[in-house]
Amino acid sequence: MSRFLEREDIDWWSLIANKNYLENPYPQLKELQKLGPIHLDKKTGIYFVLGHHEFGLIARSSKMGRDTRLWRDGWFNPDNKVSDPTSYELFSEFQSQMIMMNEPDHGRMRSVYQQAFKPSAVASIRPMIERETDLLLEQLAATNDIDLIDNFAAPLPLRVLRNLLEIPADMDQDMQRWSASLIKIGDVMMMQEQKVEALLALREFKYYLRDHIKYYRASHQNTLMNSVISAFENGFMNEQETLTNLMSMLVAGHETTVTLIGNGMLALLRHSDQRNLLISDPILIETAIDEFLRYEPGGNMILRIAIEDFELNGITIPTGSMVIGMVGAINRDPLRFNQADILDIQRKPNPHFTYGAGIHICIGAPLAHLESEIAFNKILKQFPQIELSGEPIWRLDRLNARGLKTLPVRLRIN
Ligand code: HEM
Repeated sequence: MSRFLEREDIDWWSLIANKNYLENPYPQLKELQKLGPIHLDKKTGIYFVLGHHEFGLIARSSKMGRDTRLWRDGWFNPDNKVSDPTSYELFSEFQSQMIMMNEPDHGRMRSVYQQAFKPSAVASIRPMIERETDLLLEQLAATNDIDLIDNFAAPLPLRVLRNLLEIPADMDQDMQRWSASLIKIGDVMMMQEQKVEALLALREFKYYLRDHIKYYRASHQNTLMNSVISAFENGFMNEQETLTNLMSMLVAGHETTVTLIGNGMLALLRHSDQRNLLISDPILIETAIDEFLRYEPGGNMILRIAIEDFELNGITIPTGSMVIGMVGAINRDPLRFNQADILDIQRKPNPHFTYGAGIHICIGAPLAHLESEIAFNKILKQFPQIELSGEPIWRLDRLNARGLKTLPVRLRIN
Protein backbone atom coordinates (compact mmCIF):
# COMPACT_ATOMS: atom_id res chain seq x y z
CA MET A 1 0.00 0.00 0.00
CA SER A 2 1.22 3.48 -0.82
CA ARG A 3 2.35 5.30 2.28
CA PHE A 4 1.16 8.57 0.82
CA LEU A 5 -2.17 9.68 -0.51
CA GLU A 6 -3.11 12.49 -2.81
CA ARG A 7 -6.83 12.55 -3.45
CA GLU A 8 -9.22 15.15 -4.66
CA ASP A 9 -12.36 13.41 -3.47
CA ILE A 10 -11.72 14.04 0.24
CA ASP A 11 -12.76 17.52 1.35
CA TRP A 12 -10.72 17.64 4.53
CA TRP A 13 -12.01 20.84 6.02
CA SER A 14 -15.72 20.02 5.56
CA LEU A 15 -15.05 16.60 6.98
CA ILE A 16 -13.34 17.71 10.15
CA ALA A 17 -15.54 20.74 10.79
CA ASN A 18 -18.81 18.79 10.92
CA LYS A 19 -20.69 18.28 14.18
CA ASN A 20 -20.34 14.48 14.21
CA TYR A 21 -16.59 14.73 13.85
CA LEU A 22 -16.29 17.42 16.51
CA GLU A 23 -18.32 15.32 18.95
CA ASN A 24 -16.41 12.13 18.24
CA PRO A 25 -13.54 12.36 15.73
CA TYR A 26 -12.18 8.83 16.19
CA PRO A 27 -14.36 6.76 13.79
CA GLN A 28 -13.64 9.13 10.88
CA LEU A 29 -9.97 9.44 11.71
CA LYS A 30 -9.71 5.66 11.75
CA GLU A 31 -11.25 5.39 8.26
CA LEU A 32 -8.91 8.09 6.91
CA GLN A 33 -5.92 6.43 8.55
CA LYS A 34 -6.78 3.16 6.80
CA LEU A 35 -6.41 5.00 3.47
CA GLY A 36 -2.86 6.12 4.26
CA PRO A 37 -0.65 7.83 6.84
CA ILE A 38 -0.22 11.13 4.94
CA HIS A 39 -2.87 12.89 2.89
CA LEU A 40 -2.42 15.93 0.70
CA ASP A 41 -5.53 18.10 0.61
CA LYS A 42 -5.42 19.27 -2.98
CA LYS A 43 -7.70 22.25 -2.31
CA THR A 44 -5.46 23.87 0.29
CA GLY A 45 -2.09 22.22 -0.32
CA ILE A 46 -2.01 21.16 3.35
CA TYR A 47 -0.54 17.76 4.32
CA PHE A 48 -2.49 15.90 7.00
CA VAL A 49 -0.47 13.28 8.87
CA LEU A 50 -2.21 10.35 10.57
CA GLY A 51 0.62 7.85 10.94
CA HIS A 52 2.64 7.63 14.16
CA HIS A 53 5.93 6.76 12.46
CA GLU A 54 5.56 9.46 9.82
CA PHE A 55 4.62 12.17 12.31
CA GLY A 56 7.62 11.33 14.49
CA LEU A 57 9.95 11.84 11.52
CA ILE A 58 8.28 15.10 10.54
CA ALA A 59 8.00 16.61 14.02
CA ARG A 60 11.64 15.86 14.87
CA SER A 61 13.17 16.98 11.57
CA SER A 62 15.27 20.15 11.46
CA LYS A 63 13.74 20.75 8.01
CA MET A 64 10.37 21.27 9.65
CA GLY A 65 9.67 24.35 11.79
CA ARG A 66 6.85 26.22 13.46
CA ASP A 67 7.30 29.70 11.98
CA THR A 68 4.03 30.31 10.12
CA ARG A 69 5.55 33.29 8.30
CA LEU A 70 7.21 30.69 6.07
CA TRP A 71 3.87 29.16 5.12
CA ARG A 72 3.50 29.71 1.38
CA ASP A 73 -0.23 30.44 1.53
CA GLY A 74 -0.40 31.84 5.05
CA TRP A 75 -1.15 35.05 6.86
CA PHE A 76 2.28 36.60 6.17
CA ASN A 77 1.54 36.86 2.47
CA PRO A 78 1.55 40.68 1.81
CA ASP A 79 -1.85 40.42 0.05
CA ASN A 80 -3.41 39.45 3.40
CA LYS A 81 -2.28 42.71 4.94
CA VAL A 82 -4.80 44.35 2.64
CA SER A 83 -7.51 41.66 2.39
CA ASP A 84 -7.59 40.65 6.10
CA PRO A 85 -5.76 43.30 8.13
CA THR A 86 -7.16 42.06 11.47
CA SER A 87 -5.66 38.60 11.03
CA TYR A 88 -2.41 40.12 9.84
CA GLU A 89 -2.17 42.33 12.93
CA LEU A 90 -3.24 39.52 15.24
CA PHE A 91 -0.63 37.07 13.97
CA SER A 92 2.07 39.77 13.88
CA GLU A 93 1.42 40.64 17.53
CA PHE A 94 1.42 36.94 18.45
CA GLN A 95 4.61 36.05 16.58
CA SER A 96 7.52 36.78 18.94
CA GLN A 97 7.29 33.69 21.12
CA MET A 98 9.23 30.45 21.16
CA ILE A 99 6.42 28.27 19.80
CA MET A 100 6.21 30.39 16.64
CA MET A 101 9.96 30.64 16.04
CA ASN A 102 12.55 28.55 14.26
CA GLU A 103 16.22 28.34 15.26
CA PRO A 104 18.18 30.20 16.49
CA ASP A 105 15.52 32.48 18.04
CA HIS A 106 13.48 29.55 19.30
CA GLY A 107 16.41 28.09 21.27
CA ARG A 108 17.38 31.49 22.68
CA MET A 109 13.88 32.10 24.05
CA ARG A 110 13.37 28.54 25.26
CA SER A 111 16.65 28.68 27.22
CA VAL A 112 15.22 31.47 29.41
CA TYR A 113 12.30 29.25 30.47
CA GLN A 114 14.09 25.90 30.52
CA GLN A 115 15.40 26.03 34.08
CA ALA A 116 12.01 26.86 35.65
CA PHE A 117 10.30 23.95 33.85
CA LYS A 118 12.80 21.23 34.75
CA PRO A 119 11.01 18.47 36.69
CA SER A 120 13.13 19.29 39.80
CA ALA A 121 12.15 22.98 39.68
CA VAL A 122 8.51 22.12 39.06
CA ALA A 123 8.57 19.71 42.03
CA SER A 124 9.42 22.67 44.26
CA ILE A 125 6.05 24.28 43.55
CA ARG A 126 4.12 21.16 44.59
CA PRO A 127 3.03 22.75 47.91
CA MET A 128 1.54 25.73 46.03
CA ILE A 129 -0.39 23.44 43.66
CA GLU A 130 -1.62 21.31 46.59
CA ARG A 131 -2.76 24.42 48.44
CA GLU A 132 -4.76 25.69 45.44
CA THR A 133 -6.26 22.23 44.90
CA ASP A 134 -7.29 21.96 48.57
CA LEU A 135 -8.90 25.41 48.48
CA LEU A 136 -11.03 24.45 45.49
CA LEU A 137 -11.96 21.08 46.99
CA GLU A 138 -12.95 22.73 50.27
CA GLN A 139 -15.46 24.84 48.35
CA LEU A 140 -16.91 21.68 46.82
CA ALA A 141 -17.36 19.96 50.18
CA ALA A 142 -20.76 21.58 50.76
CA THR A 143 -22.17 20.69 47.34
CA ASN A 144 -22.88 17.45 45.54
CA ASP A 145 -23.96 17.93 41.92
CA ILE A 146 -21.47 20.19 40.15
CA ASP A 147 -19.94 21.04 36.81
CA LEU A 148 -16.38 19.85 37.27
CA ILE A 149 -15.05 22.14 34.52
CA ASP A 150 -16.32 25.43 35.97
CA ASN A 151 -15.76 24.53 39.60
CA PHE A 152 -12.44 22.77 39.44
CA ALA A 153 -10.72 21.94 36.14
CA ALA A 154 -10.78 25.53 34.83
CA PRO A 155 -9.80 27.52 37.94
CA LEU A 156 -6.98 25.23 39.12
CA PRO A 157 -4.52 25.69 36.21
CA LEU A 158 -5.39 29.39 36.04
CA ARG A 159 -4.47 29.89 39.69
CA VAL A 160 -1.27 27.87 39.31
CA LEU A 161 -0.18 29.97 36.33
CA ARG A 162 -1.10 33.20 38.05
CA ASN A 163 1.10 32.18 41.01
CA LEU A 164 3.92 31.11 38.70
CA LEU A 165 3.84 34.50 36.98
CA GLU A 166 3.47 36.18 40.40
CA ILE A 167 0.28 37.94 39.36
CA PRO A 168 -2.18 38.86 42.18
CA ALA A 169 -5.35 36.80 42.68
CA ASP A 170 -7.63 39.76 41.92
CA MET A 171 -6.56 39.41 38.26
CA ASP A 172 -8.16 35.95 37.91
CA GLN A 173 -11.25 37.16 36.06
CA ASP A 174 -9.18 39.16 33.58
CA MET A 175 -6.83 36.24 33.05
CA GLN A 176 -9.77 33.92 32.46
CA ARG A 177 -11.16 36.36 29.87
CA TRP A 178 -7.79 36.78 28.14
CA SER A 179 -7.22 33.05 28.07
CA ALA A 180 -10.66 32.39 26.49
CA SER A 181 -10.09 35.00 23.75
CA LEU A 182 -6.48 34.16 22.93
CA ILE A 183 -6.83 30.38 22.77
CA LYS A 184 -8.82 30.66 19.54
CA ILE A 185 -5.95 32.31 17.64
CA GLY A 186 -5.02 30.25 14.62
CA ASP A 187 -8.13 28.08 14.61
CA VAL A 188 -9.75 27.95 11.19
CA MET A 189 -13.17 28.23 12.85
CA MET A 190 -12.25 31.62 14.32
CA MET A 191 -14.87 34.23 13.35
CA GLN A 192 -14.02 37.82 12.40
CA GLU A 193 -15.43 39.27 15.65
CA GLN A 194 -13.41 36.74 17.66
CA LYS A 195 -10.26 37.96 15.90
CA VAL A 196 -11.05 41.54 16.95
CA GLU A 197 -11.75 40.35 20.50
CA ALA A 198 -8.47 38.39 20.56
CA LEU A 199 -6.51 41.39 19.32
CA LEU A 200 -7.96 43.52 22.11
CA ALA A 201 -7.22 40.83 24.69
CA LEU A 202 -3.67 40.50 23.40
CA ARG A 203 -3.03 44.20 23.76
CA GLU A 204 -4.68 44.46 27.18
CA PHE A 205 -2.71 41.51 28.52
CA LYS A 206 0.59 42.81 27.14
CA TYR A 207 -0.16 46.25 28.58
CA TYR A 208 -0.74 44.62 31.96
CA LEU A 209 2.45 42.55 31.71
CA ARG A 210 4.51 45.59 30.73
CA ASP A 211 3.63 47.20 34.07
CA HIS A 212 3.95 43.90 35.89
CA ILE A 213 7.59 43.49 34.89
CA LYS A 214 8.34 47.19 35.39
CA TYR A 215 7.23 47.20 39.02
CA TYR A 216 8.21 43.58 39.78
CA ARG A 217 10.22 43.12 42.96
CA ALA A 218 11.67 39.65 43.41
CA SER A 219 10.32 37.84 46.46
CA HIS A 220 12.57 34.77 45.97
CA GLN A 221 15.63 33.88 43.97
CA ASN A 222 15.50 31.40 41.07
CA THR A 223 11.89 32.00 40.09
CA LEU A 224 10.61 31.95 36.53
CA MET A 225 9.96 35.71 36.73
CA ASN A 226 13.55 36.35 37.84
CA SER A 227 14.91 34.51 34.79
CA VAL A 228 12.53 36.31 32.45
CA ILE A 229 13.23 39.77 33.83
CA SER A 230 17.00 39.35 33.90
CA ALA A 231 16.91 38.11 30.27
CA PHE A 232 15.01 41.30 29.41
CA GLU A 233 17.24 43.61 31.44
CA ASN A 234 20.45 42.24 29.99
CA GLY A 235 19.10 42.45 26.42
CA PHE A 236 18.89 38.69 25.84
CA MET A 237 15.23 39.15 24.88
CA ASN A 238 13.64 42.38 23.65
CA GLU A 239 10.44 43.80 25.16
CA GLN A 240 8.11 42.34 22.56
CA GLU A 241 9.64 38.87 23.00
CA THR A 242 9.53 39.15 26.78
CA LEU A 243 5.85 40.11 26.86
CA THR A 244 4.70 37.67 24.18
CA ASN A 245 6.47 34.69 25.76
CA LEU A 246 5.01 35.55 29.16
CA MET A 247 1.58 35.82 27.64
CA SER A 248 2.05 32.47 25.93
CA MET A 249 2.37 30.80 29.33
CA LEU A 250 -1.35 31.42 29.77
CA VAL A 251 -2.28 30.56 26.19
CA ALA A 252 -0.22 27.36 26.06
CA GLY A 253 -0.62 26.31 29.67
CA HIS A 254 -4.15 27.07 30.79
CA GLU A 255 -6.77 25.45 28.61
CA THR A 256 -4.51 22.53 27.71
CA THR A 257 -4.36 21.55 31.39
CA VAL A 258 -8.09 22.19 31.93
CA THR A 259 -8.68 19.76 29.08
CA LEU A 260 -6.33 17.14 30.46
CA ILE A 261 -8.22 17.16 33.76
CA GLY A 262 -11.68 17.32 32.12
CA ASN A 263 -11.14 14.81 29.29
CA GLY A 264 -9.17 12.51 31.59
CA MET A 265 -11.87 12.51 34.25
CA LEU A 266 -14.57 11.81 31.67
CA ALA A 267 -12.58 8.90 30.25
CA LEU A 268 -12.06 7.52 33.76
CA LEU A 269 -15.70 7.88 34.82
CA ARG A 270 -16.81 6.08 31.65
CA HIS A 271 -14.53 3.13 32.44
CA SER A 272 -15.45 1.96 35.93
CA ASP A 273 -12.87 -0.87 35.91
CA GLN A 274 -10.07 1.67 35.30
CA ARG A 275 -11.54 4.07 37.84
CA ASN A 276 -11.66 1.37 40.53
CA LEU A 277 -8.13 0.31 39.66
CA LEU A 278 -6.81 3.85 40.11
CA ILE A 279 -8.68 4.35 43.38
CA SER A 280 -7.27 1.10 44.75
CA ASP A 281 -3.74 1.90 43.58
CA PRO A 282 -3.17 5.70 43.35
CA ILE A 283 0.46 5.24 42.24
CA LEU A 284 -0.97 4.29 38.83
CA ILE A 285 -1.70 7.98 38.27
CA GLU A 286 1.80 8.22 36.70
CA THR A 287 0.86 6.03 33.73
CA ALA A 288 -2.81 7.05 33.85
CA ILE A 289 -2.02 10.69 32.96
CA ASP A 290 -0.15 9.62 29.83
CA GLU A 291 -3.00 7.34 28.89
CA PHE A 292 -5.55 10.17 29.30
CA LEU A 293 -3.34 12.31 27.05
CA ARG A 294 -3.11 9.53 24.45
CA TYR A 295 -6.72 8.42 24.55
CA GLU A 296 -8.44 11.79 24.55
CA PRO A 297 -5.90 14.48 23.56
CA GLY A 298 -7.08 18.05 24.04
CA GLY A 299 -4.87 19.42 21.25
CA ASN A 300 -6.00 17.86 17.98
CA MET A 301 -3.52 19.33 15.58
CA ILE A 302 0.22 19.94 15.75
CA LEU A 303 1.62 21.98 12.93
CA ARG A 304 4.88 22.23 11.08
CA ILE A 305 5.94 24.41 8.15
CA ALA A 306 8.58 22.97 5.80
CA ILE A 307 11.76 25.08 6.07
CA GLU A 308 13.28 23.00 3.25
CA ASP A 309 11.97 20.31 0.92
CA PHE A 310 11.30 17.22 2.99
CA GLU A 311 11.46 13.68 1.56
CA LEU A 312 9.21 11.04 3.03
CA ASN A 313 7.73 7.80 1.69
CA GLY A 314 9.09 8.60 -1.75
CA ILE A 315 7.41 11.98 -2.03
CA THR A 316 8.63 15.53 -1.44
CA ILE A 317 6.82 17.93 0.84
CA PRO A 318 7.88 21.25 -0.71
CA THR A 319 9.39 24.18 1.20
CA GLY A 320 6.69 26.46 2.61
CA SER A 321 4.05 23.72 2.96
CA MET A 322 1.90 23.41 6.03
CA VAL A 323 1.84 19.95 7.63
CA ILE A 324 -0.70 19.10 10.33
CA GLY A 325 -0.34 16.13 12.66
CA MET A 326 -3.78 14.77 13.53
CA VAL A 327 -3.08 13.74 17.10
CA GLY A 328 -6.32 11.80 17.60
CA ALA A 329 -5.30 9.44 14.77
CA ILE A 330 -1.56 9.34 15.51
CA ASN A 331 -2.15 8.39 19.16
CA ARG A 332 -4.35 5.47 18.10
CA ASP A 333 -2.24 4.19 15.21
CA PRO A 334 -2.65 0.39 15.33
CA LEU A 335 0.87 0.01 13.90
CA ARG A 336 2.24 1.55 17.11
CA PHE A 337 -0.29 0.82 19.87
CA ASN A 338 -1.91 -2.47 20.87
CA GLN A 339 -5.65 -2.19 21.39
CA ALA A 340 -5.38 1.48 20.60
CA ASP A 341 -9.07 2.22 21.20
CA ILE A 342 -8.98 0.78 24.73
CA LEU A 343 -8.30 2.98 27.76
CA ASP A 344 -5.57 1.22 29.73
CA ILE A 345 -4.22 3.32 32.60
CA GLN A 346 -1.29 0.92 33.02
CA ARG A 347 -0.13 1.27 29.39
CA LYS A 348 3.65 1.36 29.27
CA PRO A 349 5.47 2.41 27.13
CA ASN A 350 3.07 5.04 25.90
CA PRO A 351 4.73 7.04 23.11
CA HIS A 352 1.80 9.40 22.48
CA PHE A 353 2.42 12.70 20.71
CA THR A 354 0.05 14.92 22.68
CA TYR A 355 3.00 17.03 23.89
CA GLY A 356 4.49 17.12 20.38
CA ALA A 357 8.09 16.09 19.68
CA GLY A 358 11.49 17.43 18.75
CA ILE A 359 12.82 20.82 19.78
CA HIS A 360 9.34 22.29 20.33
CA ILE A 361 8.14 19.48 22.60
CA CYS A 362 5.97 21.00 25.32
CA ILE A 363 8.17 22.74 27.87
CA GLY A 364 5.28 22.78 30.37
CA ALA A 365 4.73 19.00 30.35
CA PRO A 366 6.26 18.43 33.83
CA LEU A 367 3.97 21.12 35.26
CA ALA A 368 0.85 19.76 33.53
CA HIS A 369 1.71 16.26 34.80
CA LEU A 370 2.26 17.33 38.37
CA GLU A 371 -0.86 19.45 38.43
CA SER A 372 -3.11 16.74 37.05
CA GLU A 373 -1.52 14.08 39.25
CA ILE A 374 -2.36 16.17 42.33
CA ALA A 375 -5.84 16.99 41.00
CA PHE A 376 -6.80 13.37 40.26
CA ASN A 377 -5.37 11.93 43.44
CA LYS A 378 -7.02 14.49 45.69
CA ILE A 379 -10.43 14.34 44.00
CA LEU A 380 -10.51 10.54 44.00
CA LYS A 381 -9.35 10.38 47.61
CA GLN A 382 -11.91 12.91 48.83
CA PHE A 383 -14.75 11.77 46.59
CA PRO A 384 -14.19 8.07 45.73
CA GLN A 385 -17.86 7.72 44.75
CA ILE A 386 -17.66 10.45 42.10
CA GLU A 387 -19.79 9.61 39.03
CA LEU A 388 -21.24 11.26 35.94
CA SER A 389 -24.57 12.92 36.69
CA GLY A 390 -25.55 13.93 33.14
CA GLU A 391 -24.32 14.13 29.57
CA PRO A 392 -21.11 16.12 29.21
CA ILE A 393 -21.10 18.80 26.50
CA TRP A 394 -18.17 19.13 24.10
CA ARG A 395 -17.13 22.54 22.79
CA LEU A 396 -17.88 22.51 19.08
CA ASP A 397 -16.46 25.89 18.12
CA ARG A 398 -12.86 24.85 17.50
CA LEU A 399 -10.99 22.46 15.29
CA ASN A 400 -7.61 22.44 16.93
CA ALA A 401 -8.81 21.72 20.46
CA ARG A 402 -11.10 19.06 21.82
CA GLY A 403 -12.36 19.86 25.26
CA LEU A 404 -15.46 19.86 27.41
CA LYS A 405 -17.69 22.83 28.01
CA THR A 406 -19.36 21.06 30.92
CA LEU A 407 -18.73 17.86 32.85
CA PRO A 408 -21.64 17.25 35.25
CA VAL A 409 -20.64 15.02 38.15
CA ARG A 410 -22.12 13.83 41.45
CA LEU A 411 -19.46 13.84 44.12
CA ARG A 412 -21.06 11.30 46.49
CA ILE A 413 -23.91 8.86 46.37
CA ASN A 414 -26.43 9.90 49.06
C1 HEM B 1 -1.80 18.89 29.18
C2 HEM B 1 -1.24 20.05 29.01
C3 HEM B 1 -0.46 20.47 27.80
C4 HEM B 1 -0.45 19.96 26.52
C5 HEM B 1 -1.25 18.80 25.99
C6 HEM B 1 0.50 20.75 25.76
C7 HEM B 1 0.81 20.54 24.42
C8 HEM B 1 1.79 21.22 23.74
C9 HEM B 1 2.14 20.98 22.35
C10 HEM B 1 1.47 19.98 21.43
C11 HEM B 1 3.14 21.82 22.03
C12 HEM B 1 3.83 21.96 20.66
C13 HEM B 1 4.83 20.83 20.50
C14 HEM B 1 5.34 20.64 19.08
O1 HEM B 1 5.10 21.46 18.21
O2 HEM B 1 6.02 19.62 18.84
C15 HEM B 1 3.45 22.60 23.20
C16 HEM B 1 4.42 23.54 23.28
C17 HEM B 1 4.54 24.41 24.34
N1 HEM B 1 3.88 24.36 25.55
FE1 HEM B 1 2.54 22.97 26.10
N2 HEM B 1 1.02 21.72 26.57
C18 HEM B 1 0.48 21.57 27.82
C19 HEM B 1 0.76 22.32 28.95
C20 HEM B 1 1.62 23.39 28.99
C21 HEM B 1 1.89 24.20 30.15
C22 HEM B 1 1.30 23.96 31.55
C23 HEM B 1 2.74 25.19 29.74
C24 HEM B 1 3.35 26.33 30.53
C25 HEM B 1 2.87 26.84 31.62
C26 HEM B 1 3.02 24.98 28.34
C27 HEM B 1 3.86 25.75 27.58
C28 HEM B 1 4.27 25.43 26.30
C29 HEM B 1 5.24 26.22 25.56
C30 HEM B 1 5.90 27.49 26.02
C31 HEM B 1 5.41 25.57 24.34
C32 HEM B 1 6.37 25.97 23.20
C33 HEM B 1 7.66 25.18 23.37
C34 HEM B 1 8.64 25.43 22.25
O3 HEM B 1 8.25 25.91 21.19
O4 HEM B 1 9.83 25.13 22.46
N3 HEM B 1 2.33 23.88 27.92
N4 HEM B 1 2.61 22.20 24.23
